[in-house]
Order: sequence, then C-alpha cells, then structure tokens
Amino acid sequence: MLKKFQKRKKIDLTLKAGDKHYRSFIGPPSKYDLVSAMQFNLLTKHGLRENHKFLDIGCGSLRGGRLFIIYLLENNYHGVEPEKWLVEDGIYFELGKEIVKLKKPKFLHSTNFDFYKFGTEFDFALAQSIFTHASVEQIKTCLLNLSKVANKNFKLLASFIEGDENYEGSDWVYPGCVTYRFDFMKQLAEEYGFKCRKTDDTHPNNHTWLLIEK
Ligand SMILES: C[S@@+](CC[C@H](N)C(=O)[O-])C[C@H]1O[C@@H](n2cnc3c(N)ncnc32)[C@H](O)[C@@H]1O
Repeated sequence: MLKKFQKRKKIDLTLKAGDKHYRSFIGPPSKYDLVSAMQFNLLTKHGLRENHKFLDIGCGSLRGGRLFIIYLLENNYHGVEPEKWLVEDGIYFELGKEIVKLKKPKFLHSTNFDFYKFGTEFDFALAQSIFTHASVEQIKTCLLNLSKVANKNFKLLASFIEGDENYEGSDWVYPGCVTYRFDFMKQLAEEYGFKCRKTDDTHPNNHTWLLIEK
C-alpha cells in the first residue's frame, strides 16, 4: 500500500495527459501548478468570496480544489468527480487530511451531474476542461441540473474549445478534446434559462471561457 502511494507521488513531467497519475490523468503535468492558479484567480476575479457555496464540476485531483478548499469557509466546497482515486490522491499528496477535517469539503463520485445530491444551492460553479470532453447530451444534463441548484446570483465559469464544428458523438472523449461553436453553446445555456457570454480571460491550453449566469 505504502509502495503504491510512493509510486503515485513521484512527479514525472514526461507523463502525458490521460496517463494514470493524479497529476497527469487530468492534463499535462507540466502545467499542474499553472492550471491550479488560473482556476483560483479566475473565480476570485469573477466574484467568488469565502462565504459562497461553490461547485467544482469534474474536480479531478483537486488541482484547483486544493486552493479553493483552503480559501472557502467550511462546508462551502463541493466537488463532483467520478474517479474517486483522483480525489483521494489530491487529498493525500496535495491538501492533507487536517485541512479536510477543518474545511469539510463535500464530494460526490458520479457521472450523472446529479448536483441536487449535495442538498444545497450554489452561488458559483466551475467546469474547467469538462465541456472540452463532453457530449451535447452531457452538457445539457449538466446545465439542466445546474438550473435546479442555482441561486439567484449564480455564475458558472466553463471552458470549451471553440471550433467551426459541434461534436456530434454521444461519448465522453478523453484524453482527446471536442469542439463546439460559440453560438451553439449560448443557445444551449439559454434553453436552461441562463445568459451566456465569452469572457476575455486567457487559458494556458487555449480554451475559451464562458460566463453562464442567471
Ligand atoms: C480534464 S479533467 C479536468 C479536471 C479539473 N476540472 C481540473 O481542471 O483540474 C476532466 C475531469 O472530468 C472528470 N469527468 C469525467 N466524466 C465526468 C462526468 N460525467 N461528470 C463530472 N466529471 C467528469 C474526469 O474524471 C476528470 O477528472
């Protein structure tokens, strides 16, 4: 058991996105720190405060979560992630169990975007590199379920890869990426009662940021 954890701890920058290590499974390991900082800076720039209820959709190994959990008041961080081992490794190698005890983050291991299971409404949500892999049906389920747990000032920051074509498959694509047109994303958001616009925030992997709000 100890050996297994020591092997997982080694930071190997030659690993590729999708390789089974908590730092590479979710993206290129050379940008782990940068993508952490980007997520935290972006959300605080758009108004996230410590008292807000925050939902991290596809939180992975807590690349962003390790900063959000420390910043937010206890019980305010909510992470959804189907791969339980990623969250466990994020806690073990990056955050520490003491912080978890203190800040009481909540986790849901599910692929169904069933956010209502947290039993709360949210002020802010983040989908960093989720719509870059998701099918239209998955994005629709995500937006529909968000519309049920969004409070009146709710904001979602979501990254996507803008292209001329919309991905038409039904599977989650990983480690490959999918593209969507902006007008299509906007129309989807509007179907579920949200406004949607692009922000001018940059992304180290050239994703485009959407601000989707009530
Ligand atoms: C590219 S990674 C991004 C991780 C994290 N958002 C970050 O930027 O650090 C995509 C994540 O989405 C998770 N995922 C896959 N299917 C999902 C689903 N149906 N609902 C929520 N997350 C999902 C993957 O396991 C993976 O951790």
